[in-house]
Amino acid sequence: MRRKIIAGNWKMNLTLSEANAIASGLKEKLPSKTDAEVMVFPSFIHLPSVSSILGETNIVVGSQNAYPAALTAMTGEIAPAQLREIGITTSLVGHSERRQFLGETNEICNEKIKFLLGQGFRVVYCIGETLAERESGNTFSVLSTQIKQGLKGIESALFSKLIVAYEPVWAIGTGKVATPEQAEEAHAFIRNEIAGLFVGGKEVSESLQILYGGSVKPDNIASLLSKPNIDGGLVGGASQKLDSFLALIK
Ligand code: PGA
Repeated sequence: MRRKIIAGNWKMNLTLSEANAIASGLKEKLPSKTDAEVMVFPSFIHLPSVSSILGETNIVVGSQNAYPAALTAMTGEIAPAQLREIGITTSLVGHSERRQFLGETNEICNEKIKFLLGQGFRVVYCIGETLAERESGNTFSVLSTQIKQGLKGIESALFSKLIVAYEPVWAIGTGKVATPEQAEEAHAFIRNEIAGLFVGGKEVSESLQILYGGSVKPDNIASLLSKPNIDGGLVGGASQKLDSFLALIK
């Protein structure tokens, strides 16, 4: 049985006081045990503060990115070892905003995923097609390439720390959510591709949590989660306001 996950991607949207206020609100209003695992991904500079607020809760605080190397000369980047030092051991990789605007390729994602998993991190690997790719009938070949290149060479034993987020680029921040059927079709495809990647892939893919992301809101989450291959949501906008984030988790 795969546990559901509701993950809030706060992007570069919040000030420190806004991030702290949402974290405090979650701490105060959420029961100590929730059916779904709750995660938040604040900006790097807000991590110490948000994780100290959420320290005694079961809410996971993760980073939006990490550089795939040990402590080294790499100006402007953050190493997994630095994250671990402040208690962060979960990270997003390959969000479409980084792919689109910062040149993050499947190969770079692969290096990050390998390094992070090797360091014992949990990784949420984001994949998804653009509108042009969907309209030209290439959705599944794009997803297949993102899976094969992004997860290349990763040992099956490390998959228990991996979460995949299917986020169609055309649905992110646009208010245009994928229908539950469109999302389910993509999720089933992703699970099946991963099952075929290596020996023992079927068991690994059965326990893999696959989140949907792209205009998830309190009024569409239930229909998405009713689908057998959708194991949760990676939520941007609706996680950046306490009321709607609480409504989603509920
Ligand atoms: P959105 O963002 O919920 O605002 O569409 C989702 C994401 O980018 O992770």
